[in-house]
Amino acid sequence: MKLETERLFLRPLQTTDVAALASLWTDPEITQFMGGPRNYDEVYKELTEDARLKPPPAFDLWVVTEKATNQIVGHCGIIDKEVDGSNEFELIYVIARSAWGNGYATEIATVIKENAFKYLGLKRIIALINPMNPASARVAIKVGMQYEKDTIRPGGKIMQVFAMNEEDQSK
Ligand SMILES: CC(C)(COP(=O)(O)OP(=O)(O)OC[C@H]1O[C@@H](n2cnc3c(N)ncnc32)[C@H](O)[C@@H]1OP(=O)(O)O)[C@@H](O)C(=O)NCCC(=O)NCCS
Repeated sequence: MKLETERLFLRPLQTTDVAALASLWTDPEITQFMGGPRNYDEVYKELTEDARLKPPPAFDLWVVTEKATNQIVGHCGIIDKEVDGSNEFELIYVIARSAWGNGYATEIATVIKENAFKYLGLKRIIALINPMNPASARVAIKVGMQYEKDTIRPGGKIMQVFAMNEEDQSK
């Protein structure tokens, strides 16, 4: 399965994607509001295992490629996560630094959201946003989410919960 926008594709991971994705997750600027840079070897191993899962999990981060260049420009998707004792589905968008500011996060997050409500059967999605990350909050709002509450994550970090329900789409 594959999702498509005007400028981007979203598809499951392949083992040949792992080096490009590992360089996103080890980049200090990209990860500064997402737990900091990962260890290269560890993230390489995790992504390689992920790429071998058949069929690919429905709730996972997938690879974003740019149609014009075929380059990998992001790692985005929906994962399930417990927040304040509830099982939530979190929309995550990670875009390569060289591709920031083109509207790509909003473009791909919009199609991921539509797919989640229409085909994955979700009734609600959230984004967990570091209060120091206004670009991420802006993307959540452009996708149709609203600030709901603050939450304290395991480890003590305060994050903002942005959320939307299926019925909010028609508003
Ligand atoms: C956050 C991120 C995904 C945005 O990607 P992007 O493709 O540049 O996003 P878009 O171009 O679709 O939209 C960004 C919006 O944020 C705004 N923005 C950017 N920097 C901003 C800032 N410092 N303050 C306020 N708004 C800001 C942009 O102006 C744009 O809004 P607009 O269209 O109304 O002008 C990207 O910076 C990223 O990957 N960051 C690292 C990973 C991360 O933190 N992800 C979020 C956690 S889920």
